[in-house]
Amino acid sequence: MRKLVFATHNLNKLEEIREILKSYDVVGLRDIGCDEDIVEDADDLRGNAKIKADYVTGNFHIDCFADDTGLEVEALDGAPGVYSARYAGEGCSYHDNVVKLLGAMKGIENRKARFRTVIALNLNGEQHFFEGIVNGKILTEEHGEGGFGYDPIFQPDGFEQSFAELGMEMKNKISHRGRAIAKLMEFLEK
Ligand code: IMP
Repeated sequence: MRKLVFATHNLNKLEEIREILKSYDVVGLRDIGCDEDIVEDADDLRGNAKIKADYVTGNFHIDCFADDTGLEVEALDGAPGVYSARYAGEGCSYHDNVVKLLGAMKGIENRKARFRTVIALNLNGEQHFFEGIVNGKILTEEHGEGGFGYDPIFQPDGFEQSFAELGMEMKNKISHRGRAIAKLMEFLEK
């Protein structure tokens, strides 16, 4: 089976991908002896995904893909976007980010937002990009216990529940990451 590195230290994401991409031996950064925290200092999602994929291919000479995700809020000109992980500051928690975003959205009527994931794939010396988007809105308070990150305050279009209330299976079907991964899979398996 062909080996493909997913440039992540996140074991949940790795497990999720292994379930989907069954025709590849997908391994994580730790499996190839890369303990490094790769610095993601690009100013857009595509740039960060590329940095991570290129780091692995450049240093370990192996095919690799990497992802980067941001929550883009229309009324905030696309913020927090590429800074979604550290919106409330370096070392902040998911909840700190949620509180900061609810504060920034106080009194704003246009609640439109979207999650966007970009995947960069280095395969056989070529680079490919895949994008997944889910449109929705920012709720005025937290709903639900599941998921992570901004899930309690994001309601996808066509649903009455937040991502945190929808459950993992449904979320993976319609989410930004789920859609980007589906495109990656279609490409790898054709
Ligand atoms: P990453 O690129 O997957 O590490 O995502 C960057 C940040 O975006 C995370 O730290 C979360 O704050 C947020 N994020 C990414 N995916 C999701 C999601 O599915 N739900 C809620 N927040 C997310």
